[in-house]
Amino acid sequence: MIGAVDSTAVDSTVGRDRGVALRESGLTINRACKVFRSAEGKEVRAIDDVSLAICRGEFFVMLGPSGCGKTTLLRSIAGLETLDAGEIYLDDRKIDDLPPYERPVNTVFQSYALFPHMTVEQNVAFGLEMERKPKKEIRKTVSDMLDLVHLGDIASRRPDQLSGGQQQRVALARALAKSPQVLLLDESLSALDFKLRRQMQVELKRIQRETGVTFVFVTHDQEEALSMADRIAVFSNGRPEQVGTPEQIYNEPVNRFVADFIGDINFIEGRKGRGDCVVLEESTFPIAQDLSGLAEGDRVCVAVRPEHIALSAPGGEGIQGTVTWLTFMGAHISCSVLLSDGTTVMARLTPSSVDVPLSPNAPVTVVIGAERMRVVER
Ligand SMILES: Nc1ncnc2c1ncn2[C@@H]1O[C@H](COP(=O)(O)OP(=O)(O)OP(=O)(O)O)[C@@H](O)[C@H]1O
Ligand SMILES: [Mg+2]
Repeated sequence: MIGAVDSTAVDSTVGRDRGVALRESGLTINRACKVFRSAEGKEVRAIDDVSLAICRGEFFVMLGPSGCGKTTLLRSIAGLETLDAGEIYLDDRKIDDLPPYERPVNTVFQSYALFPHMTVEQNVAFGLEMERKPKKEIRKTVSDMLDLVHLGDIASRRPDQLSGGQQQRVALARALAKSPQVLLLDESLSALDFKLRRQMQVELKRIQRETGVTFVFVTHDQEEALSMADRIAVFSNGRPEQVGTPEQIYNEPVNRFVADFIGDINFIEGRKGRGDCVVLEESTFPIAQDLSGLAEGDRVCVAVRPEHIALSAPGGEGIQGTVTWLTFMGAHISCSVLLSDGTTVMARLTPSSVDVPLSPNAPVTVVIGAERMRVVER
């Protein structure tokens, strides 16, 4: 239940079975549900009991595959969808029953939705004019916003005279002009080509830092999420599987879905050994993770990133295997190794992680550091 402020709620991994505590500042989503009925009459749980505490001033990213409910949750925060259950609070104010225009929230859509017949300046001023703000104040805000997004010198152009990146900046300036407490961005960069997208990622981070506005950014691009977020929520089937910093999500995925969705990863089946150890093939590995919830002999799945695998001479301490192929990739060598139980692992090797001549069919020892192995839910 919503109650007193609880700082642990910020890092609570997943609010699956319970809500999260209301934070004194920030956006709190408590046990939100939204069910759609498909054309065939089937129920779709687009948001399935979601609880999240997003801090004020945070760059928060919702990441997940297509159809996992990201847009529906964003639209619910904006007031464009009505929740079937649950509440949304901004600071300690309940906002889920307010109409969209009364929520201190603004949205930037993928399509930008600029007015084609208006100049850049007029587009940015539009919302403020609707609110009948004084002319002088509007001029000052528009000028500040155009400076913020570095568009001051093309203020009199129309949208069709702008590049995709410039249109994106106008949409941002327009959304920020109304001083929202929270800015929602739904796949806002996905219409841009690769290089422009990378530039806009840096720009967005700068703008968010300069304004201090809470950004809730939706993407299905994991690299984008890792590079931009203060914290990420990884969604699947209408609920967050894990919430954490990019480092936590990458290095300490809680389950197979999160591990697999973020970056390349190997899964090696084994058993729990004595204490915080896993037994893979015949070898026992200590592991930097509390495994007290498991019994000795329980089957475990160990996740290892390709860059955390090293290869050394056969017969050494580690898992024995045979190289099946290798490819020179410039900065690294990509190599696959067949283990005796039939599992194939991928390694991304640099000169410092190989001390054995490599060729197809060469026997090797696969070496993995204790802190690099992660037992994940199967
Ligand atoms: N108006 C609607 N009527 C029926 N089903 C809907 C409606 N809107 C969304 N859904 C369904 O709800 C689920 C979540 O959709 P949503 O658009 O939130 O996903 P998403 O994570 O934003 O996906 P994408 O990455 O493709 O944009 C999907 O199964 C979708 O088909
Ligand atoms: Mg979407």
